[in-house]
Amino acid sequence: MNILILGSGGREHALAWAVKQNPKTDRLIVAPGNAGIAMLAECADIDILDGAAVVTFCEENAIDFVIVGPEAPLAAGVADACRAAGLLTFGPSAAAARLEASKAFTKDICDACKAPTAAYARFTEAAPARAYVLAQGAPIVVKADGLAAGKGVIVAMTEAEALAAIDNMLGGEFGAAGAEVVIEEFMAGEEASFFILTDGIHALPIGTAQDHKRVGDGDTGPNTGGMGAYSPAPVLTDALQRQAMQEIVLPTIAEMARRGTPYQGVLYAGLMIANGQTRLVEYNARFGDPECQVLMMRLGAQALDLMLATAEGRLAEGRLAEAQVIWAKDHALTVVMAANGYPGAYVKGSAIKGLDALPEDSRHMVFHAGTAARDAGIIATGGRVLTVTARGDTLAEARTAAYAMVDRIDWPQGFCRRDIGWRALTG
Ligand code: AMP
Ligand code: GLY
Repeated sequence: MNILILGSGGREHALAWAVKQNPKTDRLIVAPGNAGIAMLAECADIDILDGAAVVTFCEENAIDFVIVGPEAPLAAGVADACRAAGLLTFGPSAAAARLEASKAFTKDICDACKAPTAAYARFTEAAPARAYVLAQGAPIVVKADGLAAGKGVIVAMTEAEALAAIDNMLGGEFGAAGAEVVIEEFMAGEEASFFILTDGIHALPIGTAQDHKRVGDGDTGPNTGGMGAYSPAPVLTDALQRQAMQEIVLPTIAEMARRGTPYQGVLYAGLMIANGQTRLVEYNARFGDPECQVLMMRLGAQALDLMLATAEGRLAEGRLAEAQVIWAKDHALTVVMAANGYPGAYVKGSAIKGLDALPEDSRHMVFHAGTAARDAGIIATGGRVLTVTARGDTLAEARTAAYAMVDRIDWPQGFCRRDIGWRALTG
């Protein structure tokens, strides 16, 4: 079959790498793609936020299956446009992607299905929001309702910080995304990510991972899109996964279906673990980046079969399931290499050397996040530039292999964290 993947990051490189290995794949196109993706798939320059343009491209190129990578096209209704045109599509409708695009909506869903999450209140006016913070005290969390490129959440350790966040958000810092704020209870604990495929009715867990959001070693410095990840996340034990499925994920899927907006695609549940229980921090309507890289390295070619079963409504639970994950007892770890200065201002265009000499096999892969090809080789074009990924029989082995690759990459204008995996390796 001919497959189109939308997106241009390390997540989409990993999706393309897994899909390409499946014998069902004939032509593989990624739009817009990047220099790493171009080494294994065709890249096409289309506006992936324009549903009509994506549909036209699919018709002209006899595309059989569309996989939507990032949240922006989902929120823009690109999956709806594709399905309306009769295209088999992996990814939720705009209505269902509100689980990521609106934090207030997600809180309403949690209320309706009694999913455990932080206590909260919603505000569109500063005065009652400020009064709420003063009544609750700090620490407290202030969130812009809408998509704010990962910058819309302030975990305020003092009331003053929370009050400033309210004024900034309701004052227009994030435009319409901050016209409403959600103020919620600070949850202590350890965070982990849980990934579930769902066709709207049935659900299939496909793995756990842990991300490293802070830029610096020891979880210091500003937040980023993610500086590294590993899978599985041992903190999410089987018992905790069962509890999260029963109390959070399955009730959410049922509530979305009950409302006439069934959720189809991958549901990424960010969970806080404390006192032997999980509570929901947030949902995302897509694979995480860089969590996708470690999941794809572990799933390999079966990822395509699982995504097809999701899109075709063939996921069923239990022993009679048509789609099942075949797990190896393995571990994967990915290290993000970013341009110096990220997540602040950084310079684009520096040359990256040494990539050609690295292994590329079922245990080693450098997934590109922000690169372009120039006559002389590969250059950096983004903040997060490479995601250096390895698999091993143990997490320690995966980490050693990933850093061995990092150390062979010659890119003085880039940096990475040296402690990816520390919680699981020292805990
Ligand atoms: P979100 O975009 O909702 O995932 O928030 C970004 C990050 O803020 C999360 O990954 C958590 O580390 C943190 N966070 C969000 N909500 C809370 C909360 N209620 N309590 C503690 N930390 C939170
Ligand atoms: N790595 C976090 C995310 O993809 O949202």
